[in-house]
Amino acid sequence: MNTDSRFLKACRGEPVDRVPVWLMRQAGRYLPEYRKLREAHPFLELCKTPALAVEVTLQPLERFGMDAAILFSDILLLLETMGADLRFDEKLGPRLRCRGVREGGDHGLKVPDPERGLGFVLDAVRQLRKSLGQNVALIGFSGAPFTLATYLIEGGTSRSFLDTKTFLYRNPASFHRLMGKLADAVQAYLQAQIAAGVQAVQLFDTWAGILSPDDYREFVLPYTQRILSALPADRVPTIHFSLGTSTLLEEMETLGAGVLSLDWRIDLGRARQRLGPARPVQGNLDPLALFQPRDALRSTVRNVLGKGASMPGYVFNLGHGIHPKTPLESVETLVETVRSFPATPMQAGAP
Ligand code: CP3
Repeated sequence: MNTDSRFLKACRGEPVDRVPVWLMRQAGRYLPEYRKLREAHPFLELCKTPALAVEVTLQPLERFGMDAAILFSDILLLLETMGADLRFDEKLGPRLRCRGVREGGDHGLKVPDPERGLGFVLDAVRQLRKSLGQNVALIGFSGAPFTLATYLIEGGTSRSFLDTKTFLYRNPASFHRLMGKLADAVQAYLQAQIAAGVQAVQLFDTWAGILSPDDYREFVLPYTQRILSALPADRVPTIHFSLGTSTLLEEMETLGAGVLSLDWRIDLGRARQRLGPARPVQGNLDPLALFQPRDALRSTVRNVLGKGASMPGYVFNLGHGIHPKTPLESVETLVETVRSFPATPMQAGAP
């Protein structure tokens, strides 16, 4: 008998008893128990102390009972172990410094041995696998090379991505070299997480949607393909996340990702039509839909469920991370609504 969780089954397009649900940034500032821990510990300390990272990972599951846990960490920690200087500013968000990278080099950036540079993440994974039951899958993750490159080059979050695009257009060979190095680091990091016990991995390419399809094909696609093709996809499902990329669906189909995570800018039913039943999808509720009154939220969630569950292989999620001001009652309503949504014949594996 297949004892995998319904989340893992859905990622593989296999029959499930109901739609699985988890939420991006499900562990975080909207939770009072997280804010309480944060009063005592800076964010990076939470990430780097396995016992605390484990505790935070489990917080949303204890309160709401999602079907998957995502490891509590951050995509930018990998850049720190590669040699960049990383700080989290309460007001400005993440700040990165990497000497020489803007001038077109990758001075000093190295591909770290994950067990040495990110051993605290792998320890947290090993502890989590012991405390999570069989029904709740553990998801590992990494930033994708392009999104990591934007943080290195911009020094933080950006609006126009002027520095990234200037670099890429003026010095394409050097940009490719940087992408190659980041891809090596991401691949080793995900492989180490899998060896430590994560059961699925999500690759966050948050900013891929700022590129034209031609630039995406030239500067991003080959590196993401290379990473995904090196992972044991038959054993560990892979999820590709990006924002604002509904214009790149056909390109993303060739990435080699098991599941595509879509945002709310695309109609989920139409996306499923375009991708076909062989491509599991995740998404795509607008995180700000959680600010609706309860009844309206319920019907918005059911609407998304109806479109997503029209074919096998569907994981309910938001289209991006949950907003820190989200009311707890809304999260409860969301999870409850997904849980009580009857499995469609397609989902239950009817011929
Ligand atoms: O619950 C989870 O989803 C797991 C943990 C997780 C975090 N960040 C924790 C976090 C994950 C998967 C991430 C991914 C991440 N981090 C991405 C890709 C996904 C996305 O949101 O687009 C990106 C771009 C980052 C970089 C980052 N980290 C930013 C821009 C910020 C500041 C803005 C913000 O949303 O807070 C962070 C900080 C961060 N990462 C927090 C958490 C819980 C808040 C830290 C705090 O102040 O307590």
